[in-house]
Amino acid sequence: MKKTKLGVGIVGAGFNANFHIRAWTGVRDADILGIFDPDRKRADEAAALARKLRVGETLVYGSVTEMVSSPDIDAVWISAPNFTRIEVMEEIAAAQQKGKAGLMGVCCEKPLGRNVKEARRMLELAKKAGLLDGYLENQVFSPSVVRGKGIVWARGASLTGRPYLARAAEEHSGPHMPWFWEGSLQGGGVLNDMMCHSVEVARFMLTPPGAPRSSLIPTKMTAYASCLKWQIPQYAKALRESSGGKTDYIKRPAEDFARSLVEYKDDKGQVVVVETTTSWCYVGAGLRLSMELLGPEYALQINSLDAGLKVFFSRNVKGKAGEDLVEKQNAEVGLMPVVSDEESEYGYTAENRHMVQSFLQGVRPSENFEDGVGVAELLMAAYMSIEKEKTLTFPPPGLRNFIPAVAKGTWNPRNR
Ligand SMILES: NC(=O)c1ccc[n+]([C@@H]2O[C@H](COP(=O)([O-])OP(=O)(O)OC[C@H]3O[C@@H](n4cnc5c(N)ncnc54)[C@H](O)[C@@H]3O)[C@@H](O)[C@H]2O)c1
Repeated sequence: MKKTKLGVGIVGAGFNANFHIRAWTGVRDADILGIFDPDRKRADEAAALARKLRVGETLVYGSVTEMVSSPDIDAVWISAPNFTRIEVMEEIAAAQQKGKAGLMGVCCEKPLGRNVKEARRMLELAKKAGLLDGYLENQVFSPSVVRGKGIVWARGASLTGRPYLARAAEEHSGPHMPWFWEGSLQGGGVLNDMMCHSVEVARFMLTPPGAPRSSLIPTKMTAYASCLKWQIPQYAKALRESSGGKTDYIKRPAEDFARSLVEYKDDKGQVVVVETTTSWCYVGAGLRLSMELLGPEYALQINSLDAGLKVFFSRNVKGKAGEDLVEKQNAEVGLMPVVSDEESEYGYTAENRHMVQSFLQGVRPSENFEDGVGVAELLMAAYMSIEKEKTLTFPPPGLRNFIPAVAKGTWNPRNR
C-alpha cells in the first residue's frame, strides 16, 4: 500500500539537526520518529525538543543500523560531521541491501563529501542501495531566492534576456565546533564549509526555471584564499584554547576567507558568471547571506540581515551571550536585526517539505546527490586554482582524486 506519511530518522543531533527539528513544525506528511547520535545526551535533548514541538514521537536509537531497521523509519536525514559521511552512508546502504531496512530515501547535509571522491562514493552507495537521494542545500529553497528567481526569469529575463551574473556571499565570525576548523576533518576551511552554499545558490538562480543542472556547463575557475584573522596570534591562541589545545592555526591554518569566479556557458553558448565570497572573519550582527542576480535590464538583491524587525538594547541591558536574534550572533546590545523565522528564511522548511513530498511520491528530489557531486567538483577546482595561483579550464586534470593541501595540513599562506 502506498505510504501517506513518512517516518524520518536523523543521524547526528547537533546544531544543524536542531534546525531541522524546529523547521519540521512547517512540514506536513512526515514525523521525526528516530534520532541517533553517539553522544547520548545530545540525542536525548534533540528527541525531547522534537516531542515538545510535536513533530513526532521521537525515539533515541543506539546505532544507525538499529534506527534504519525499525519499521517506523522510512527515510534518513544525515546531519553528522563531514568526516563521518562515508561510514554513516555505508552503514545505511548495508542495512538496506541486506533487507534489514525498508527505506525509501536518504538526505544528506552539505557538503556531500570532503572531496570529489567522497561525494561520488555517497552517490554510488545511494544508487546501489536503490535509495532516492536528496542533497540538503537549504539556500536553493529559501523563499526569497525561489520567489526572486521566479519573478526575475518570468518578467526581466523573458522580455530582455537571461541573467548573466550571479553573486553570492556567506559570512560569519567562525564555526561553533572545533572539528569545523580542522582541514583534515572538515575537508577544508571556509571554502569547503560555506562556499558550497554560495556556488550552488548562484548556479541555481542562473539556471532557467525547470532546466536541468547540465544546461549550464562550467568552463573556467579562478579562486583565491587566505587566512586573514585566525593566524593573528591572539585569535590563534583563542582557537587553541577553545579546542582543548588541538587546533593550531599558526602551524596548520585553514582558509578563513575565500572567493571564486566560475565561468559557465549556457546551452546557446552564452557566457555567464558566478562570483562568490565566503568568510569566517566577518564580525557584524551575525550570519550574513547575500545574493544578487543581474541581467540586461534588471537586478535582484537579497541580504538576510536587512530584516524587517530590529531591536535596540542599551548598555544597561547586561544579558548572557546567545543566538536568539540571529544565527552566529555577535552582540547583545545596540540596534540589532532579528531574523524572525530563520528556519523558514534560510530554506530549511521548504527543503524538508520538498524532500518528504518527493520520497512519498517515489520521485527523485530536484536537489540530489548529483548536485552534491557537482558542488564538490567546483570546490575542489577552486582549491586547485588557489594552489596553482591561476585560472583553470574546467574540469582540471586530476580533479576526481584531488585532496586540497589544507585537508592534508600542508597549506600555510604565510609560507607563500
Ligand atoms: N545547511 C546548513 O546551513 C548547515 C548548517 C550547519 C551545519 N551543516 C552541516 O550539518 C552537519 C552537522 O553540523 P552541525 O553544525 O550539526 O555539527 P555539530 O558538531 O554541532 O553536531 C554534529 C553531531 O553529530 C554527532 N556525531 C559525531 N559522529 C557521529 C556519527 N558517526 N554518527 C552520528 N552522529 C555523529 C556529534 O556527537 C554531534 O552531536 C555538517 O555536515 C555541516 O556541514 C549544515
